[in-house]
Amino acid sequence: MSIADALLDPVRAGRTAVAARAAILSEPGGRFVVEDVQLQQPRRDEVLVKVAGVGVCHTDVVCRGDFPVPLPIVLGHEGSGVVEAVGAGVTRVRPGDHVVLTFDSCGVCPNCARSTPSYCYNFMAENFGGVRVSDGSTPMSRKGDAVNARFFGQSSFASHLIAREQNTIVVSKAVPIELLGPLGCGIQTGAGSILNSLKVHQGDSVAIFGAGAVGLSAVMAAKIAGAAAIVVVEPNPSRRALALELGATAALDPTGDADVTASVKKAGPGGVSHALDTTGIPAVIGAALETLLPNGMLGLVGMPPPDASLPANILSMLVRGVGVKAYVEGDSDPEVFIPQLVQYHLDGRLPFDRLITRFSFDQINEAFDATTNGTAIKPVLIL
Ligand SMILES: NC(=O)c1ccc[n+]([C@@H]2O[C@H](COP(=O)([O-])OP(=O)(O)OC[C@H]3O[C@@H](n4cnc5c(N)ncnc54)[C@H](O)[C@@H]3O)[C@@H](O)[C@H]2O)c1
Ligand SMILES: [Zn+2]
Ligand SMILES: [Zn+2]
Repeated sequence: MSIADALLDPVRAGRTAVAARAAILSEPGGRFVVEDVQLQQPRRDEVLVKVAGVGVCHTDVVCRGDFPVPLPIVLGHEGSGVVEAVGAGVTRVRPGDHVVLTFDSCGVCPNCARSTPSYCYNFMAENFGGVRVSDGSTPMSRKGDAVNARFFGQSSFASHLIAREQNTIVVSKAVPIELLGPLGCGIQTGAGSILNSLKVHQGDSVAIFGAGAVGLSAVMAAKIAGAAAIVVVEPNPSRRALALELGATAALDPTGDADVTASVKKAGPGGVSHALDTTGIPAVIGAALETLLPNGMLGLVGMPPPDASLPANILSMLVRGVGVKAYVEGDSDPEVFIPQLVQYHLDGRLPFDRLITRFSFDQINEAFDATTNGTAIKPVLIL
């Protein structure tokens, strides 16, 4: 081994590995098994975090299922915890800091350079590849065999993780750290889609399709923005009730409604200036587009089936001058936006804790069942 290799690989270089526990997925659609693993000490640009809590996002559910990720893998991309060690080149993060882990980005492509890292040119490799993009290695092993542990640059379904400084966000110690993980994905996606992407302003009207963690975060953000009308469409009655408590001005049940577009327009009233789809269901997206007032905008964030096309009537769009755009992670620059979300929470304007159901780490499979059958909006595993 050359000296350069030794510096790159702290374990082979003789620095002690960290004993950890991780929930490993070994086959598509399988159950997670919590096992003993070894984590390397952080490299030059990396951070070792002791995980305090980790949210379950619908994207974890999709990646446990058909979305192709390398196996075996540790999923989890809404981790939060306390920094235990940092690499020699890390300047922004220190041991003892409370941190939220977020999506990873390369830091050097044109979109990273203009502070829009959620549109990083290397987003797929950085977040879904399972290994370090720099050299294809992974910081985790099980009985000497490699385990993919770079999911969203964190793989936080584990007692400890290795992230990069790039996707580690230092947050206030005034909020219980174990609950902050969902700010790293679901909540920043919903809130950011309203505040950063659609740029909803005072007096605007908003329709939000789907009231899961992303949709309900969008509701809270639309209230923060001062939207005059916030119309939610959601089949689950308890989610509709919560949407109304969090600021929705109307909550509609699409079940058995032959003309959801007309119902939203009536509640709008007249239509909405902004709409957000969190369902990924093509028919819902088609209905959402037709609710838009002239010059309106529809944001897409829900994961659609892989073969779905946009169900849009182009002439109808043209005569109203409406737009549609897919948004990733709420156009968030996490270093700026996550601390801002924490501040909204401290000010009582973003009560995202109301979306959370706590599970122990060993109940990870039950937490996935609860999010899949709709009984938990945002499960958070507490370590
Ligand atoms: N674009 C991104 O960056 C990004 C980030 C995070 C999550 N996501 C995706 O966003 C989506 C939402 O995430 P979530 O955690 O809120 O998921 P979720 O499954 O909890 O929420 C979806 C909601 O849509 C509702 N729904 C189902 N059919 C409906 C219909 N016909 N009309 C209206 N609502 C309907 C469901 O009852 C559910 O409450 C997921 O697909 C997730 O993968 C995208
Ligand atoms: Zn980039
Ligand atoms: Zn997510």
